[in-house]
Amino acid sequence: MKKDLLSIKDLAPEDINNILSLAEKIKKDRSAYAQVLSGKCIGLIFQKPSNRTRVSFEIGMVQLGGYAIYLGPSELEMGKRESVKDVASVLARYLDGIVARTYAHKDLEDLARYSSAPIINGLSDLEHPCQALCDIYTIRERFGSFKNIKLAYVGDGNNVLNSLLLASAKVGLNIDMAAPKGYGAAKWARDLAAEFTAKSGSRMRYYTKAEDAARDADIIYTDVWVSMGQEKESKRRKAAFSGFQVNDRLLKFARKGCVVMHCLPAHRGEEITDSVIDSPNSVVYDQAENRMHVEKAILLMLLGTVPDKGFAYSA
Ligand code: CP
Ligand code: NVA
Repeated sequence: MKKDLLSIKDLAPEDINNILSLAEKIKKDRSAYAQVLSGKCIGLIFQKPSNRTRVSFEIGMVQLGGYAIYLGPSELEMGKRESVKDVASVLARYLDGIVARTYAHKDLEDLARYSSAPIINGLSDLEHPCQALCDIYTIRERFGSFKNIKLAYVGDGNNVLNSLLLASAKVGLNIDMAAPKGYGAAKWARDLAAEFTAKSGSRMRYYTKAEDAARDADIIYTDVWVSMGQEKESKRRKAAFSGFQVNDRLLKFARKGCVVMHCLPAHRGEEITDSVIDSPNSVVYDQAENRMHVEKAILLMLLGTVPDKGFAYSA
């Protein structure tokens, strides 16, 4: 049966470990598994712009011997020119897998329902699982493990935060999150994270002051205050988040040498200052690079024939 990657919640901790280990092997040797996906082709259905997700998946496919076709908003007009069902049913006859970036998460679920080829979430309004997997890969690469590490997420309770919360809760990484009232983590994500932390032992705390989350943090992570599709709320959001900038003052609350993370694209001068994102402790370009290694591992596990590397999906 085909497997999809729509949400971190569907992955068992051992699936995540398998992805991270395979990605590590791939990063050490870019030519590893060079022809495993020879003759295979994925489609990239993107309803929103992208730099990292599109390019890392395209190049990842090339490095594995396969091919990728970009299908931007004007090519498919999914849901307008043609129903999601018809898009999924037809593309699955041509393609071996689909990476989709949608507005509504429901569109991804519908793609998965009607496509006989695996669907990978390349960002929706609810989650960004490939980003979260690359983030925890980057954290493990930097710290060696997740034990007793505290990540402070200062910013919007958005798709990036949801997946990061769930992934951290699965692997045992502690998160303290701070957002203005009304912009914190969604209840469903907090509830799910609480369920997973009961098994992993990690701790999640939620604050409404940036300093409370940043205190003694090993890592500070932020993302844009206005996500793609929220442009109309821009003025209101920027006003609400004005005390939540990741800047030199906030970093003083964290541990010395605190690592700085951002999924990018960054709105420099809004959620993060140049001085912080360009500081020696910023790993934002490592994160961006690691997208490719982690996504190659995901592609191999969903489309390839790497022995014993299928997803267990037993949460
Ligand atoms: N972080 C991320 O997903 O970047 P893109 O929007 O450029 O793909
Ligand atoms: N939260 C951002 C992430 C971009 C990678 C957005 O959805 O626009």
